Amino acid sequence: MPRRKMRSLIEPPPRSRKVGWFDQRVQGGIVEVLAAPDVFTFHAPTKVLHGRGAIARLGDEVATECRRPLLVTDPGIVASGLHRRAIDSLERRGLAVAVFDRVTHMATVRSVSEGVAAGRAHGFDCVVGLGGGSALAVARGVAIVGAEERPVRELVGGWGAEAPSLRMLPLFSVPTTAGSGSEVSPSAPLLDDELGAKLTLSGRGTFSRVAILDPDLLASLPSRQAALSGVDALTHAIEACCTNLATPITDALALAAMGILMRDLAAAVRGDADARARCLVASTMANQACGNAKLGLVHGLARNVQTLFVIPYGVTIGVFLVPVMEFNRPAALPAFARMADAMGLSRPGEPESSRAAAVVPAVKRLLTEIGIPRRLGSDEVDRSRIDELARMVFARNTPAQLDRAALASVDVGGFAPSPNIRRARYADVVALYERSLVGWSVEGAPPPQTPA
Ligand SMILES: [Fe+2]
Repeated sequence: MPRRKMRSLIEPPPRSRKVGWFDQRVQGGIVEVLAAPDVFTFHAPTKVLHGRGAIARLGDEVATECRRPLLVTDPGIVASGLHRRAIDSLERRGLAVAVFDRVTHMATVRSVSEGVAAGRAHGFDCVVGLGGGSALAVARGVAIVGAEERPVRELVGGWGAEAPSLRMLPLFSVPTTAGSGSEVSPSAPLLDDELGAKLTLSGRGTFSRVAILDPDLLASLPSRQAALSGVDALTHAIEACCTNLATPITDALALAAMGILMRDLAAAVRGDADARARCLVASTMANQACGNAKLGLVHGLARNVQTLFVIPYGVTIGVFLVPVMEFNRPAALPAFARMADAMGLSRPGEPESSRAAAVVPAVKRLLTEIGIPRRLGSDEVDRSRIDELARMVFARNTPAQLDRAALASVDVGGFAPSPNIRRARYADVVALYERSLVGWSVEGAPPPQTPA
């Protein structure tokens, strides 16, 4: 939505009030901001082991409690030979490892079922995930279904309430991209292609035991994959700052992560090993932030496009990032000003509004530099299905999520069920989907600088 039009919508001028932990703005009663919690928890129980060659320690970690790991990965990792480093480390500790390498580009319920079958044939007592976000999500799904012994569809739920309590085999996660942050996330988003829905398995006990961050595993990552995973990490950091559940702890992690990513992601995409190592840590930090502050409308909109159309995950995330940031900014000037500071975009004493205005142009420049598409193609997404996509946003965390026929009767009269810092109505959601087909343009902006 053009800025001029947005201004007219939010008049009269905003008044400030103290809400939760931070000064937020409630804008004439039109842009609504939910209060941040006055009492919060922060939960990040995964042990993080970082360093070049750290994968050699995988066997030591697994051997503390398990004997028969199932290694879950994808064919690309096997073709590159990276899986041998994991297997060698496990076998050095005398562990009996079996490999399941049939993870596809999108994590699916089917891959989880196949992985569980492979694990049972092996008599597995734990799971090691090795790869990008899809491999790590399938590995988590296999660890959960392997322990629960029930199908995925029976394990999602807790509609609108606390996440269900799920059992899980011990899980060890080794990312080969700097992006998903799945290694420290409790969630396994899985596409159920028979149902035409994306189901998320998640619970308080579904974190990895150990995340091993070995920058050497990113050495052969193609530039396009580095870009598409990197924009996911950046989005986790930005969204974590733009929900009504953000806290001082999540902000600290998210702001530091986005400072690193804005500075180093372009070099990482070009193949700079040190930049990739820093982005790997930033990706983990960003996910620790959004695992607690939750995610906003970028992920909320993109997940439905991923469900209905075959488009790479990172493309869908990258396409929605700018429109959602522009939607959020009028309701989140303090958060945007903090982000500008973290990105090295602001000058001492600069007013909040002008600091906040610098963020979107800088993000646009970075996305352009690393080759993220600015829109979804009309050959990729069918415009006539925007109403369906929007209804899926409103069906989130309700039984209608599992029933295509029930979508037509989903209540779209209120706000979309999202912790996004600016609450969105049906018309807002439709406008954002429309915008994803139109795209955005680049305006002049200073390049990101090293944060002070
Ligand atoms: Fe993501």
